Formats: sequence, structure tokens, C-alpha cells
Amino acid sequence: MPSSLHFDAVVIGAGAAGLFCAARAGQRGLGVLLIDHSPRVAEKIRISGGGRCNFTNRELDARAPQRHFVGANPQFARPALSRYTPQDFIALVQHHGIAFHEKHKGQLFCDRSAEDIIAMLLAECADGRVERWQPCQVKNVVFSASSRRESSAGSYQIDTERGTVEARSVVVATGGLSIPKIGATDFGYRLAQQFDLPLVERRPGLAPLTFDGAAWSPYAQLAGLALPVAISTGSKKTRTTFHEDLLFTHRGLSGPAVLQISSYWQPGTPIAIDLAPGVHLPEALALAKARSRKLIANELAALLPARLADAWAAQSTDWQRPVNEASDKALARLAERLGRWELAPTGTEGYKKAEVTLGGVDTRALSQHTLEAKAQPGLYFIGEVVDVAGWLGGYNFQWAWASAAACAQAL
Ligand code: FDA
Repeated sequence: MPSSLHFDAVVIGAGAAGLFCAARAGQRGLGVLLIDHSPRVAEKIRISGGGRCNFTNRELDARAPQRHFVGANPQFARPALSRYTPQDFIALVQHHGIAFHEKHKGQLFCDRSAEDIIAMLLAECADGRVERWQPCQVKNVVFSASSRRESSAGSYQIDTERGTVEARSVVVATGGLSIPKIGATDFGYRLAQQFDLPLVERRPGLAPLTFDGAAWSPYAQLAGLALPVAISTGSKKTRTTFHEDLLFTHRGLSGPAVLQISSYWQPGTPIAIDLAPGVHLPEALALAKARSRKLIANELAALLPARLADAWAAQSTDWQRPVNEASDKALARLAERLGRWELAPTGTEGYKKAEVTLGGVDTRALSQHTLEAKAQPGLYFIGEVVDVAGWLGGYNFQWAWASAAACAQAL
């Protein structure tokens, strides 16, 4: 039998979670090998936050993860999020002298570039003497309960392009399916299946929504237009609402409002948009009727972007007249449609545009304190590969850091 290299832990995936876990485990004195099939580390950090990486969120409430996380059981994330908080990551960023700022709703971004966060993680890995093989394909992972090296649970043989390595623990940090062109694969899910771990069905989250071509054509001319809205989905009991900006695209809707709601939207159900949140539309239109002779579109332009006001009024002949000549019924219908624009998406733009993958390794199969597979000692799943997905705004990175820290402590 050929001799193989031995490590305490092999971390597969040098993205946000993998780099951070490897660094912290290495700093505890463990021998760590970090493997990634891509030529460059952390491609998603590089493109995140428009190149400035929204690395955490000050508003994260670890006691109530269901407020900012989606999944079959968001409470699963509570211990890890409580033990490694946004404040902990901010302290690390400050320790590395990285300048940052808060945009809105607690979102923290680098002043300069996402590269600062990558450089910080690589410096932390160097501090932990982490060995990194990249690009390197992992061909196979085999668990052996009767290793001569390990006295207790057993060990893993990881067969890679650069040879076979042996390790007490394997950490799977291969992320989700979003943006395949920069290295996303289903490796983590396949490995989970190989070890009989259940999976929760995957689908794109934080993704633009698309609509039927013909039904969408009146709105396609609005591509590029953005406005603040209230957007919601779900039944009365399960209703979720976001107050964010909406962006019209050629194929449908995007912008923070739509990305957020897409993680809650169920295929086959409608979404509802209030295009003038905070405005009492029946009152505003009644007042306009009482004292104006302007066209309805011109009156609407005081409440909405002018292009949207024009497109909206063009939808009915009842709305293409001076406001004082419109019937009360027509104005009531206009107020209702603007306050509750109900539309049925046909789908999302898919993984090529989604910022996150919903679903993944079923949290019931993992320890919420260590992220270790309950039925497979020494096998850990961290970051996006797990069925924990965050809201837009730095929550996904905070989950990557927190789950990595919990795992690194347990290795
Ligand atoms: P991540 O995807 O970071 O890393 C996985 C790694 O595994 C990659 O390096 C990949 O190459 C590697 N890998 C995959 N398959 C492999 C295989 N078979 N063998 C070896 N290696 C393999 N979040 C946030 O909080 N703030 C933000 O600003 C943004 N912005 C943002 C923008 C865009 C465009 C996207 C697509 C996503 C975001 N996100 C975000 C989400 C965030 O990037 C994401 O949730 C984290 O990167 C997840 O971290 P992981 O380490 O789990 O996976």
C-alpha cells in the first residue's frame, strides 16, 4: 500500500467557510489541508457586494435566527451564530486594519475592495500554517473504521489529483450551486448522499424573478427603472413582506426587494407589490380629483417615477383622462391596483444569477454545536452547503464564518 500524507483535517472548498475554518483549526495547532478545484480562492467573496463584500450585518439577532434565515429549521443556526457573532468578525476585520462602512439596515461593506477580506483570510490561514492545494480535484473520499493510525473513530482517505491523503476529519465547505461559471458544484451534496445524509431539495434563492413573455411585454419598456416598494408573498398566516427597492428588467423583476422575496416565494403562487408604500392612495387620488385637471398619469408622477406612471395609466382607457373627469370607481380601481399589484412569476433567473442556494444538507443530520454529521464521526458540513440560507445583507457570510468557527473548535 502506498504511503499517504496525514493531516488532522482536510477542508474541501476554499471559499468563505472553508478558508475561515481552516485558519481557525490551524491556529489551534491542527495540521490542516485546504483543497479547492478552482485556480483562485474565494471567487464569491471577490464578486460579492458589488466587489466590496457585504461581510456581515449588525442587525443579526442570533436569538431569533428565523428573522433573517430561511430553511427547514432556522433555529439550527442559533448556537453557532450566538458563539461567533458579527461583532467577533468586525473585531477581526479591524485587527487587520480593513476600512469599512455601514450602508443601510446594518450591512457592512469594505471601503476599498472585497480583496481585503480575501487577503485577511489568507493571512489567517498562513498564521495557522494551513497547507493549500489549488487547483486540485478531489476524486473520492473513503471512510475507514479500522485505520492503523487512528485509535478511535477511524479516518478518511481523500483521493485527489495530487495523491491520497489521510485525515481524522473531513470538512465539506463546497458551498451551493449558484454561479457555476466560477466554480460552484454539487460535490457537497453528492458526498452527503454517499454517507447517507438526507438532503433538503435545492432551489435558487436571492434570485431575480421571471414572468411570462407576453404578459410581461407592457412592462419590458420599464427595464432599468427602480423604486422603493413593499413586496410580499405567502398566505395570510405565512405572509412575508420586505420594504426595499424594486428593479424592472427586460425579463422580469430584480433589485433587493425581489431577491429577498424570491427566497420565500413558492412556485405557482403569486407575489404582491405595493408600488407606493406609505401613501394612502384612495385619499391621494380623491384629493387630486377635487383640485386638479391634470391627466391621471401626471398626477401619478407625483407618487411614482414618471415612466411607471405613464405605463400604468396606459393600461386602461379609464385612466387616460384628466383626473377630475375620472369616475370614482376608476380611481378606486387604480388605487387598488397600485397598492396591490398581484403577479405570478413563472420562475427565477436560476443559479446563474442566484446569490444563494436554498435547501442542502438536512440540518437534522448534523450537530448544531459542531456541524458534524451525527451518524458519521469526523465528517462536517459548513456554510452554504447546509440547509441554512440568509437574507441579502451580509447574513450568508456571517453564517459561513459562524458555522466555520463552530466546526473548527470541534475538530
Ligand atoms: P463558497 O461558494 O464561498 O465556497 C465554496 C468553495 O468550494 C469555492 O471556492 C469552490 O470553488 C469550492 N468547490 C466547489 N466544488 C468543489 C469541488 N468539487 N472540489 C473542490 N472545491 C470545490 N453573501 C453575503 O453575506 N454578502 C454579500 O455581499 C454577498 N454577495 C454575493 C454576491 C453574489 C454574486 C453571490 C453569488 C453570492 C453572494 N453572497 C453574499 C453569498 C455568499 O457568497 C455565499 O453564501 C458564501 O460565499 C458561502 O460560503 P461557502 O464557503 O459556503 O461557499
